[in-house]
Amino acid sequence: MLQDTLKQGQALTDAALDRLIPKETQYPVSIHKAMRHSVFAGGKRLRPILCMEAGRMIAGSLPAGIDELGAAIEMLHTYSLIHDDLPALDNDDLRRGRPTCHKVFGEALAILAGDALQTQAYEVLSRLACSADARVRIIEEIARGTGTIDGMIGGQVVDLEAERSRPTAEMLEYIHRAKTAALITASLISGGLYAGASDRDIEKLRAFGKSIGLAFQIVDDVLDVTQTSEQLGKTAGKDTAAQKATYPALFGVEESLRKADSLVEAAFTQLDTFGERAAILKELARFLIERKK
Ligand code: IPE
Ligand code: IPE
Ligand code: MG
Ligand code: MG
Ligand code: MG
Repeated sequence: MLQDTLKQGQALTDAALDRLIPKETQYPVSIHKAMRHSVFAGGKRLRPILCMEAGRMIAGSLPAGIDELGAAIEMLHTYSLIHDDLPALDNDDLRRGRPTCHKVFGEALAILAGDALQTQAYEVLSRLACSADARVRIIEEIARGTGTIDGMIGGQVVDLEAERSRPTAEMLEYIHRAKTAALITASLISGGLYAGASDRDIEKLRAFGKSIGLAFQIVDDVLDVTQTSEQLGKTAGKDTAAQKATYPALFGVEESLRKADSLVEAAFTQLDTFGERAAILKELARFLIERKK
């Protein structure tokens, strides 16, 4: 069942991305090639899948057109990865099993490909097939989740500034909540808004997202220590080499995994009122911490 959810969600997301991102033959071709290089390199598509499954839980079935919302979120996520890998940030050569965008196309085009995926995402969001009110609220949640105050960019800033420092547990939690949990939370909330969720249900999705998003990044840090580059499709051992502020560095692998597990357990209680309809989201949350890549 989980495998079906993942496969179906990946297929829907990939088809929407292919429709929505300009073809490689579209002038100017270099930028569209760079965007597609990173987008179609085999990402897990977890944020679109969480978004779509939140929509399904609220509406009872998959709302028509929600795949385009998922695709827009994946564009934003991929932009964050392209920029995260740049020499000025994490300086990584490998991403999704391929050479990073700047390795293939050069830094200038990689910066522009990230920018372009971001603007393309908002063009797609502006055309979503939901009510105008939901559309505006979705755009606000996603812009805030990727912004500087408790959002993705803010988290990336503190992540970089914390390198080679001895971070406190509080600072580490801030970094992880902002750089990663905020976009995961916005994915769940926007799926709920698309499906017409009540304010009360949106707050449940927000609390669920905050917990599983933090757990997700804790596990990302653990995998950096425990897996190989071949398994991950990105450079393993990178956090230790760059002296990043990570959960395993501060708490060790075992304790980090325990924390991730208890965050997911706590997240489950947020969805209790949805009963059986929350089964898929709960299964996905488990997968987020049990994954091996
Ligand atoms: C990697 O995210 C970056 C983080 C925020 C930890 P994913 O593990 O979802 O990467 P892809 O999309 O599958 O490549
Ligand atoms: C990246 O965190 C978070 C964002 C891209 C916002 P990491 O730097 O740990 O991600 P990976 O390990 O390179 O995928
Ligand atoms: Mg980083
Ligand atoms: Mg990185
Ligand atoms: Mg990482």
